Amino acid sequence: MNTNIIMELKIYQDKNQVAQEFSKYFAEKAKGEASFHVALSGGSTPKIVFDVLAKEFGASIDWKSVHFYWGDERCVLPTDDESNYKMTVEHLLSKIDIPEENIHRIKGEEDPEAEAVRYAQVLKNELPSKNGFPQFDLVILGMGDDGHTASIFPHEIELWQSENLCAVAVHPDSGQKRITITGNVINHSKTVAFLVTGATKEEKVGEIINCDGACETYPANLVAPTSGDLLWFLDKAAAAKIKEGQV
Ligand code: 6PG
Repeated sequence: MNTNIIMELKIYQDKNQVAQEFSKYFAEKAKGEASFHVALSGGSTPKIVFDVLAKEFGASIDWKSVHFYWGDERCVLPTDDESNYKMTVEHLLSKIDIPEENIHRIKGEEDPEAEAVRYAQVLKNELPSKNGFPQFDLVILGMGDDGHTASIFPHEIELWQSENLCAVAVHPDSGQKRITITGNVINHSKTVAFLVTGATKEEKVGEIINCDGACETYPANLVAPTSGDLLWFLDKAAAAKIKEGQV
């Protein structure tokens, strides 16, 4: 982990508490903002977070000021069970009163290369700019067991440095194509929040936070907001191998 950045570890008992505490954090961040631009992650971890966010804060957050984007999307139909958008509709968007125009989905059904170009333009059009890059208020990230984040996988870690805001990635096992935002977008955001839970993540979390092992080969290790905050919302299982001095 780059030791020059301000990083905060928030370690909780289990994923339910991670979901509760992150939802509280989200509601606080969004409060009073005229516009709050958020990139969502996919996978399974966000499901419980979105459920809690909708249940506990669905009625109190002013969703008219919140704009949702995705950090990555699988190249499938929005009705496909693999779709991050579909998962987000089921666990969050269908339960809150958010204007349709505030939902900026990646169109997984389109030609991947063309969609990467289109979505990069969406980010330029919709987001404020910081040092020439579109700036999110908050980027929510997960981390795979292999240390990937968004859809930048270790075998394609060079995508992190892409000069393009969005890239086409390929899942190393399934070969599934994905659209992902790249390192410059992530590291120009005001805040990045990792949501990582479960024992399967302990190795990579430990290597990244302790800055040892093969951490240099993990895309998640490259997350280092240039002038923003980096928060890790972890449960104890995922944090089990973090050394004493780091916590
Ligand atoms: C995706 C995600 C991906 C995810 C990690 C962790 O589209 O799958 O964006 O980066 O965050 O794979 O996934 P879990 O939360 O399911 O462990």
